Amino acid sequence: MRLYHSVFKDETKLDINYVPYRLPHRDAELHLLAEFFSFMLKAQGRMAQRVIITGDIGTGKTVLSQRFGTNITREADKRGINLRYVHVNCREYRGSLFLILHHVVSIFHPNFPRRGYSAEELLRILLQVLDEQDTHVILTLDEFESLVEREGSEAVYKLTRLQEIRMNKPQRVSLICILRGLRAIEGLDASTRSTLQSNIIHLERYSEQHLMDILNDRVSLAFKPLTVPEDTLGLIAELAFSENGNARFGIELLWRAGKYADAEDLGIVAPECVRKAVSSIYAVMRKSDLASLSHHEKLFLLGVARLFKGSQKAYASLTEAERAYAVVCEEFDVQPHSHTQLWKYLQMLSALSIVKKKVSAADSRGRSTIVYLPRIPAHELEKELSTLLEKEA
Ligand SMILES: Nc1ncnc2c1ncn2[C@@H]1O[C@H](COP(=O)(O)OP(=O)(O)OP(=O)(O)O)[C@@H](O)[C@H]1O
Ligand SMILES: [Mg+2]
Repeated sequence: MRLYHSVFKDETKLDINYVPYRLPHRDAELHLLAEFFSFMLKAQGRMAQRVIITGDIGTGKTVLSQRFGTNITREADKRGINLRYVHVNCREYRGSLFLILHHVVSIFHPNFPRRGYSAEELLRILLQVLDEQDTHVILTLDEFESLVEREGSEAVYKLTRLQEIRMNKPQRVSLICILRGLRAIEGLDASTRSTLQSNIIHLERYSEQHLMDILNDRVSLAFKPLTVPEDTLGLIAELAFSENGNARFGIELLWRAGKYADAEDLGIVAPECVRKAVSSIYAVMRKSDLASLSHHEKLFLLGVARLFKGSQKAYASLTEAERAYAVVCEEFDVQPHSHTQLWKYLQMLSALSIVKKKVSAADSRGRSTIVYLPRIPAHELEKELSTLLEKEA
């Protein structure tokens, strides 16, 4: 690989742990969090807050709370306020309250012994250490489900009520609990649930346009100018959208597609790189699916594969696809089927997610059907189909 041709400017901006400065389409939620915790910059210690963040996979729960944590600690620093943001992924600690608390205590009290204390004692020690250091903490419990699963009501109860055993002392710990859905806490007893559920921020799934904006931001951070064409980005946004609006999936695809571009020293991230990237994520190229297609479905698909193989475009009109099919028919010396037939083939291929279709935005000639290859590299598809068609000849 000749690195000086790399499409990347800074790959670390695509790392899953990178927390970008800007979070497109999460401004409102970021403000809401700031609002919920604004008292910490004014009346520290008089109250504690509990917030729940929910949302499907890849909707930005983790990155939102981390961005918020960085923002509020920076603000507190400016004002000379002792405030710490601590983000713990419960699953990394196997959902054990003891291990989670031990980790948190160690942040304030390095080399704290691991043995000899119960979870309850650790909780008490944590508050004591915070008293001594006169510090206030926002503790984020990410992937909170795993804590609930492992420890059940009791542990969560202890956590949520931890201030109440210390009457007349400052409230030191506020909580942000992150979970995909509220179902995980349905099993908790009513009072624990009600103390938890006071403030819920729900993150809606991203639309295709939202994903496009998020990806665009990352492109300018991570890639050299003009290396990621609009079509490529459109394809990635489309794919991430069909994966439930999962931004992580989109960013990972973007990174992998860049890797394929570099491996071939292309200098730009072509749509074919995206298809290669997807097929490397899933081995979706099911040969049996292709083998079971009818003769003309295969011919049509071969036309589509050739169309994209020779092009830097991610999308083509159905008319172009039909023309490519007609050329293939000539080559195989058969009469092309009618437009109505082809439409049926397209439905079939679309149901199998081999070729996808959508309706284009209206232009001077009205709306038209657009086709694209979502996840199979055109080269691979052509090779596979040629082999199959040779056998049929
Ligand atoms: N609005 C956004 N702007 C920029 N990047 C985003 C945004 N939303 C999500 N991301 C990025 O998408 C990826 C997934 O986000 P995140 O890890 O926060 O999702 P999550 O909701 O915590 O998912 P999970 O349920 O799997 O934990 C991360 O790389 C994150 O930086
Ligand atoms: Mg997360």
